[in-house]
Amino acid sequence: MKKIKVMTIFGTRPEAVKLCPVILELEKNQDYIDSKVCVTAQHRDMLDQVLEVFRVNPDYDLDVMKERQTLNEITMSVVRGLTEIFENEKPDLVLVHGDTITTFLASYTAFLHQIKVGHVEAGLRTFNKQSPYPEEVNRQLVGVLADLHFVPTEWALENLGKENRTEGIYLTGNTVACAYQYTLKEKYNHPVLEWADGRKIIFLTAHRRESLGRQHSQVFRAIKRIVDEFEDLVVIFPVHPNPVIKELAFEFFNEHLRIKLVEPFDVIQWHNLLPHAHLIVTDSGGVQEEAPSFKVPTLVIRENTERPEGVMTGNLRLVGTEEDNVYANIYDLLTNQEAYKKMSKLANPYGDGKASERIVQSILHFFGYRVDKPNIFKSPKMIGDAKVTLLV
Ligand code: UD1
Ligand code: UDP
Repeated sequence: MKKIKVMTIFGTRPEAVKLCPVILELEKNQDYIDSKVCVTAQHRDMLDQVLEVFRVNPDYDLDVMKERQTLNEITMSVVRGLTEIFENEKPDLVLVHGDTITTFLASYTAFLHQIKVGHVEAGLRTFNKQSPYPEEVNRQLVGVLADLHFVPTEWALENLGKENRTEGIYLTGNTVACAYQYTLKEKYNHPVLEWADGRKIIFLTAHRRESLGRQHSQVFRAIKRIVDEFEDLVVIFPVHPNPVIKELAFEFFNEHLRIKLVEPFDVIQWHNLLPHAHLIVTDSGGVQEEAPSFKVPTLVIRENTERPEGVMTGNLRLVGTEEDNVYANIYDLLTNQEAYKKMSKLANPYGDGKASERIVQSILHFFGYRVDKPNIFKSPKMIGDAKVTLLV
């Protein structure tokens, strides 16, 4: 049988963190799969940090990132670049992840070339077109375009059911749990831990487009109030390189002795620092998935989330961006030991770290190859109207 040509396409840091383990797994199956990697480089430095950690060398790099880029600019460059690559390479399957503009454009351009699309982390929804913006629309559209849907959890599966998707669905777990196998170290130290010197650490991350400006200002004000009030507290803020966020972060926190602004950590640093956090305040999608595995209580500074699993296990609280509410929730977790303890339990709603293996086996299954490891699949069964291949 001819090898299946799988082209994995991504552009940003979170896609890279969760697709690199899949790429490494595709490469292990090179008897059946010809794996190609294309980055749009919608992100540059943050993307390169991850590629280096996983030692993934892209075959194609569209290098589209510009400072303060607009979604329209990214769209033009990505569609043009991918069209040329698809015409030369003619992949059998394009593999994408999540909900970025790269994810949607790669899926749509593949569809226009009659190339099958596999969507990793399918089925996440808020059902609110404006929040997160534009990610909710991207992921719904990719749901329409995809031929294979790799859903991380049963909740995500139910969302596809609501959209009457019934074919090509595989419940795999989330590949974030695969990434830990490459990143976690037994012993770890970092200069920021020496700087923190045993004080309680809050890790802050903020980048959502719909919160730029006013909402982030409110959160930053709350953070400043709380740090000024609790002397044994420090904040470490790896600042997203978006100039809008950088400017605001420096305007608010620059001279503060107990708030440290740093460049984004690479993913090895970040995963190994997380266990040292007392609390996380974030609007990141990926960080919401990671926090429960590290038992770190997390306040999500958003109005809604497409990742309710950590809220359901009690590890995350959705607190919005309103200053007093953010302040009150941090205050509560600093002063109410019972509440803190409840949120710092270990939970792992995202699976057992075998999602990448299952995704690759699903691809082989879809293209008619014998599945090498049938024990990682349960037999297909119906859930509602959907025929789902369930995994152990
Ligand atoms: C993008 C994704 C978002 C994802 C986020 C992860 C879209 C619409 N948004 O948002 O879903 O949650 O990535 O971080 O796809 N920049 C750099 N270096 C980098 C990366 C970004 O300088 O490595 C700066 C550039 O000035 C760039 C700006 O950040 O113009 C914004 O980047 P962009 O990819 O447009 O948006 P994000 O907010 O990162
Ligand atoms: N992350 C990182 N360094 C940091 C902060 C986060 O490597 O300083 C990683 C983290 O492990 C997570 C990913 O970035 O997997 C999340 O990316 P981001 O918050 O940019 O995007 P989102 O997940 O919101 O789309």
